[in-house]
Amino acid sequence: MEDLILKKEISDRRLFGEFWTARQRQSHSLHYAVSYRASFKPELPSFFFSEFLTKKASVVMDPFGGRGTTAIQANLEGHYAIHNDVNPLSIFLAKSRSQIPSKDSLIKTLKNVDLSSKPKEEELDEALLAFYHKDTLREIKNFRNFCDENSSPETNFLKLVTLSRLHGHSPGFFSVYSFPQVSIPAIQQRKNNSKKGILPEYRAILPRIESKLKRDLADSLPPFYHEFSGKNQYYLSSTENMDQIPSESADLLVTSPPFLDKVDYKNDNWIRHWFLGIPDEQTDKISMFSSIDEWTNFMTNTLKSSARILKRNSYLVIEVGEVKKGKNVIPLDDYVVEAGIRSGLTWSRTYINTQKFTKLSNCWNVDNNEKGTNSNRCVVLQKI
Ligand SMILES: C[S@@+](CC[C@H](N)C(=O)[O-])C[C@H]1O[C@@H](n2cnc3c(N)ncnc32)[C@H](O)[C@@H]1O
Repeated sequence: MEDLILKKEISDRRLFGEFWTARQRQSHSLHYAVSYRASFKPELPSFFFSEFLTKKASVVMDPFGGRGTTAIQANLEGHYAIHNDVNPLSIFLAKSRSQIPSKDSLIKTLKNVDLSSKPKEEELDEALLAFYHKDTLREIKNFRNFCDENSSPETNFLKLVTLSRLHGHSPGFFSVYSFPQVSIPAIQQRKNNSKKGILPEYRAILPRIESKLKRDLADSLPPFYHEFSGKNQYYLSSTENMDQIPSESADLLVTSPPFLDKVDYKNDNWIRHWFLGIPDEQTDKISMFSSIDEWTNFMTNTLKSSARILKRNSYLVIEVGEVKKGKNVIPLDDYVVEAGIRSGLTWSRTYINTQKFTKLSNCWNVDNNEKGTNSNRCVVLQKI
């Protein structure tokens, strides 16, 4: 009997529905300036802002900030953001969008760049030539040097746009045919090139940057955007130790942690790290876990340190997916609930976003939902 009551209580706290759209690229163009592995849709934080924020100009925090989806959406909706991540790449991706220059000033900056000089040879040249024609690589290096020597909101934004063009599968990218979100190892790229019978051809970078920046800035910004983005806080720290972020300073947390070892943020971004000059040792602290116990301990510590930063009664929304390990599927949301309770937080509910095609006849029925994709599971915890 007690078991039945517990099961009922658990199922009452699981909400199924299409809470935010499953359609691609429906949000502000600024979000799509750069792609990032395992980023969530801007509609996800937006949904939780409307669920849990009671006033404008609130403070939203994302401790695993990634490409800055939460922070940018917060600013677009008139809130401040605290963006934290352990990878300097993430801080750059988010911060470079805190000050958005005008299209005209960006294009004017591009016109002043001279890409003709011969840049210094670098250790990674050989690997990079698996992706780029030598003249394209020369242009990329010269452009990076120009941006570094003339640091400004314009060059920061242009660097961001450049990051998004480094490799991909269409002629809009600088590289030979490759993957847009993952920097594969050079050896793998060489194999792919010879299998396809292709070699990197020259791709002029400036026109590609210009046409991409026009797409990124296609949507106009709300007039209040900079008022909020200008006061964002950016922190480079591991979530287990965020001591430099003031206590009780955030009204809501929306985040998505690494899913065990599903994404290798260090190696998958090696070309972006090279372009930004991020040394290897600065990406060593990115967490990856092979066991669920280790992950749950990490999440317990993360939730404890996050709870300190949140105001009393605020909510923490943690998005996780189901992770396949061998033949087993690990429902990470259950472990987040466990970690939350261990950290002294209260489990409020879990939202399971279902896509249109999964249309459930009975949206409360867990078994039914197994037919659909359950990849977006958002555990909501509360600091009481
Ligand atoms: C799933 S991604 C977050 C994506 C983000 N929601 C977005 O939309 O871009 C997880 C992030 O956690 C970061 N990360 C990994 N270990 C970390 C740690 N110990 N502390 C802080 N951030 C960490 C990774 O660098 C990565 O950016």
